[in-house]
Amino acid sequence: MNNNICTKCGLCVRVCGKAITLGEKGPEIDLSRCNGCGHCASVCPTGAIENPKAPLLREVYIPSYEEATTFLRSSRSVRFFKDETVPRETMTKLIDIGRYPQTGSNSQGISYIVLEGKDKIRKLLELFCSLADKYCPKNPDIGWIDRAVNAFRKTGKDGILRDCPELIFALSEEYDHRGRENAQFSLTFIALTAPTLGIGTCWAGIFERFACHEEYGKPIAEAVGVPEGKRIRGVMMAGIPDIEFRRIVERDPLDLRFV
Ligand SMILES: Cc1cc2nc3c(=O)[nH]c(=O)nc-3n(C[C@H](O)[C@H](O)[C@H](O)COP(=O)(O)O)c2cc1C
Repeated sequence: MNNNICTKCGLCVRVCGKAITLGEKGPEIDLSRCNGCGHCASVCPTGAIENPKAPLLREVYIPSYEEATTFLRSSRSVRFFKDETVPRETMTKLIDIGRYPQTGSNSQGISYIVLEGKDKIRKLLELFCSLADKYCPKNPDIGWIDRAVNAFRKTGKDGILRDCPELIFALSEEYDHRGRENAQFSLTFIALTAPTLGIGTCWAGIFERFACHEEYGKPIAEAVGVPEGKRIRGVMMAGIPDIEFRRIVERDPLDLRFV
């Protein structure tokens, strides 16, 4: 029943609770109190709500439990990449999905920088190693970074950024207290979508320890051109996989109690 006529069912008021009231002609949105989450327009049974802060895209689609869990379980970290870079159009299409996960109070606000090319990434790795030389001796809790750097220097094998051809940086406003979580959800959506475009990804957790650090991360932010007022909140390796995963493997058993 998508006739765009309000039946005054009140669902929009119920899901919102702060910016919508039901007036004579239907819902009235106080845009100054609306955070643009779009629950009102999404839930409306008749399609009667147009919220300029949350334009509608299409119908919701929920796959079956079997489809969804098989897909989610198929996700793997990729650590072997072909030499070529991903076409920018494909990379843009991939990163676009990063706009859709939940964010605290619908704050959104994550932006991205993609560093392209193994040479540039190798240079950044050298910078990371020099930061490890500087900061690891003062911080015993990050001694494991030193070990990763030493292994790289000894063998020339990149166990930190895996010789990847693309590095995706997720940025938030410098003082967004939800920036880290928002960036992680965003990069998770990107990682889950990547295989549908023939792209492999892997969290750059070791590298993030400096890149996302308020103080230690500054030289990395400068090297990749992070704009003033923004901060690196997540980093993911990406590229065209040089490996294929064929089977889903089991994880630890579920640990769950209902109380
Ligand atoms: C927060 C986080 C940080 C990670 N950091 C790294 C990393 O620095 N290098 C790496 O090779 N893998 C990293 N990984 C990948 C994990 O090692 C990987 O998820 C785990 O071994 C399970 O493999 P799977 O992702 O293929 O299922 C990281 C994963 C997460 C969630």
